[in-house]
Amino acid sequence: MTDLSKKSKTVSGESLSWIGIGSYGIGGRGHRDVSLTEKKSDRIYIDSLQYQFKRGYNFTEISLGYGHGNACRLFSEAMKGFGIDRTKLFITNSLYPRDFNLPNEVERDVDEMHRIFDTDYFDSTLVTQSLTIKYGYDKIVSMLHKLLESGRTRFVSLSNAGKNFIKKFKKEFGDSLFAHETHLSFEVRINQDAGIFDTCDKLGIVNIIWRPLRRNMSSKYSWDLLVELSKKYKKTQNQIILNWIAHLECKPMVMSTSKAHIDENWEANSFTMEDWDYERIQNFRVPNFEVPEIDWDKKGEGIGMADFAIGFDDNYKDFKSSNSN
Ligand SMILES: NC(=O)c1ccc[n+]([C@@H]2O[C@H](COP(=O)([O-])OP(=O)(O)OC[C@H]3O[C@@H](n4cnc5c(N)ncnc54)[C@H](OP(=O)(O)O)[C@@H]3O)[C@@H](O)[C@H]2O)c1
Repeated sequence: MTDLSKKSKTVSGESLSWIGIGSYGIGGRGHRDVSLTEKKSDRIYIDSLQYQFKRGYNFTEISLGYGHGNACRLFSEAMKGFGIDRTKLFITNSLYPRDFNLPNEVERDVDEMHRIFDTDYFDSTLVTQSLTIKYGYDKIVSMLHKLLESGRTRFVSLSNAGKNFIKKFKKEFGDSLFAHETHLSFEVRINQDAGIFDTCDKLGIVNIIWRPLRRNMSSKYSWDLLVELSKKYKKTQNQIILNWIAHLECKPMVMSTSKAHIDENWEANSFTMEDWDYERIQNFRVPNFEVPEIDWDKKGEGIGMADFAIGFDDNYKDFKSSNSN
């Protein structure tokens, strides 16, 4: 099995921080296919990014589609303004199908990302299972091989894939496959139940978690267990969630523009809970809720994993109202 501690390093040789910088939302929320919402001033994003560099957050995944290009522009400006050496950050360039209408736009984005970041390499280049379906597996895989061979990417990564596809990608890329980025939160356990994290552990692929706090929605439910553990350990509910994810040796990525939240999230790994409590969190499932069929192999049967995770609150509300009579 691959030694993940060797793989999870920046070019300067530092280990990846236990939690990463979420970049979706920097410069406004939205990919290219939708209008931007919740846009704040550039200064707020730059200050919060620089504060994360200062605290020791040293990895991110970022896409040219995030904030219609604003996320990359602001991230690059934050790096220059802070004077952080490029080699001290592990930056994954993500390519999401919703940002492209034509296959050649994918390669155009890669070039543009190198220009914006003024870099000759990305630490990893991420594709989703859906991108390979949209433009053809062979075409996407060949582009990734070329990026690896030319040194323009150190590794490749995958996002939102099922077990079969993860195994296929591992066969294709071997030790050059760095991470699988997917969702895990207090309420949404479909990846856990499908054995995705165990599969990646066995194959020596880093598990990275997107939207672990469900944008602070999990804490709004005030689940008994989270409230109890929050009181017991004198930590916030969000810290309990992040601590559990770190205990699973998965790496969460959280987006924040608030220094208080950045501190709170960073410090979530500075305590240990009793084994029994980790087990209780691990075994928690939303009561009286039936998870729909998940379309792991993208065959058009069931709901997509990411769609289910993102739409959890609506799915849960609908399920409760249709089962209340
Ligand atoms: N691969 C994929 O398909 C995929 C999909 C979704 C996301 N992602 C990646 O994952 C990253 C994280 O996901 P996300 O940004 O959607 O969701 P998130 O990190 O769970 O939530 C971010 C939101 O939560 C708030 N927040 C952060 N820490 C908090 C705390 N301690 N207490 C209360 N509120 C807190 C932030 O507000 P404040 O600014 O006020 O702190 C922000 O509005 C993204 O930025 C993106 O890079 C990848």
